[in-house]
Amino acid sequence: MAIEQTLVIIKPDGVKRGLIGQVITRYEQKGFHIIAGKLMMAERETIEEHYIEHKGKPFYEDLVNYFLEGVIFVMVVEGENAIELVRRIHGNKDPKEALPGTIRGDFSNSTTRNIVHASDCKDSVKREIEIWFPQLEYIYKK
Ligand code: CDP
Ligand code: MG
Repeated sequence: MAIEQTLVIIKPDGVKRGLIGQVITRYEQKGFHIIAGKLMMAERETIEEHYIEHKGKPFYEDLVNYFLEGVIFVMVVEGENAIELVRRIHGNKDPKEALPGTIRGDFSNSTTRNIVHASDCKDSVKREIEIWFPQLEYIYKK
């Protein structure tokens, strides 16, 4: 059994469209717990740090600017195999590949404005929790 934490962000389009409740419900109905959460306007530097792996890619500037359009809801979701399963709940970033029943499949038809972010591996979880919740005492479990 692997109890994991993962860093999730409801992006500006998700908050603006009033989807916070419906997004969180999907984690909770799967049995996951929200162990930290905050509604905030992000600083450009924080977003750039968060998406550093994409720096220089054609969509990077648009992506950072999109995150500055409005408030976001950042949270830590915990549960068994949370890292992989939360990303499955989110669905593919390509709208043509995002299956109905996933958050992106149900709520988005855009590769950029795709409602949610989730960490993609344990190293990303650690890095991203340190960025968004520096005050959180994070015990990294293997
Ligand atoms: O979010 P995910 O990990 O599924 O995808 P990613 O490849 O790490 O890309 C991060 C985010 O950049 C995506 O969720 C999109 O919002 C955005 N993106 C984009 O706007 N255009 C692309 N061609 C690829 C990603
Ligand atoms: Mg990613």
